[in-house]
Amino acid sequence: MIGVVIHIEDCWNYTQSDRDIDILQIYQETAKFLGADLFIIIDKTTEGVFSTSRRPDLEYATYNSIGEVINAYPNMAKLYFEHIRTIPLDVKYVSLSDLIHPKDNVLYVFGGDDQGLNFAEIPLGENDQAVTILVPDAILWVIVAMTIAFTDRNTKGTL
Ligand SMILES: C[S@@+](CC[C@H](N)C(=O)[O-])C[C@H]1O[C@@H](n2cnc3c(N)ncnc32)[C@H](O)[C@@H]1O
Repeated sequence: MIGVVIHIEDCWNYTQSDRDIDILQIYQETAKFLGADLFIIIDKTTEGVFSTSRRPDLEYATYNSIGEVINAYPNMAKLYFEHIRTIPLDVKYVSLSDLIHPKDNVLYVFGGDDQGLNFAEIPLGENDQAVTILVPDAILWVIVAMTIAFTDRNTKGTL
């Protein structure tokens, strides 16, 4: 199982939207095309995530915190993607260019567009890694970071 974990915050939760494409549809389509088969939302919205789109070929789950995700998937390796500026000095990280992607049983975890990952609440297990995409000045949008991460996986191959 190859999973993507994203945070959804109020700024992306178009509860009043009459758009026929919503932000989660864009995430889901992109994740599926890039090779994910599990799509996990961490819901940080005040009113609950709104989305009309569900792909039949993706497995879904929703949680309220990263801790709940870690508890729900104890046997999956987690790759925590974050900009180098947001990774605390005492957290060891690997650059994406040096990352060896696990073949299977892995979650690619991204922070929110408003707030990044909080490493203080993330216990790094022995198969887990903090990963950074070395683009010095830019903090990427999640969907861009996700696309770069999976393109690296798909071009470089896996363990
Ligand atoms: C827009 S960023 C977070 C912005 C947050 N306001 C901050 O300043 O830290 C959203 C997420 O994209 C991912 N991301 C952005 N730039 C990245 C990079 N250079 N390397 C790895 N992940 C990155 C991370 O998962 C991050 O939590």
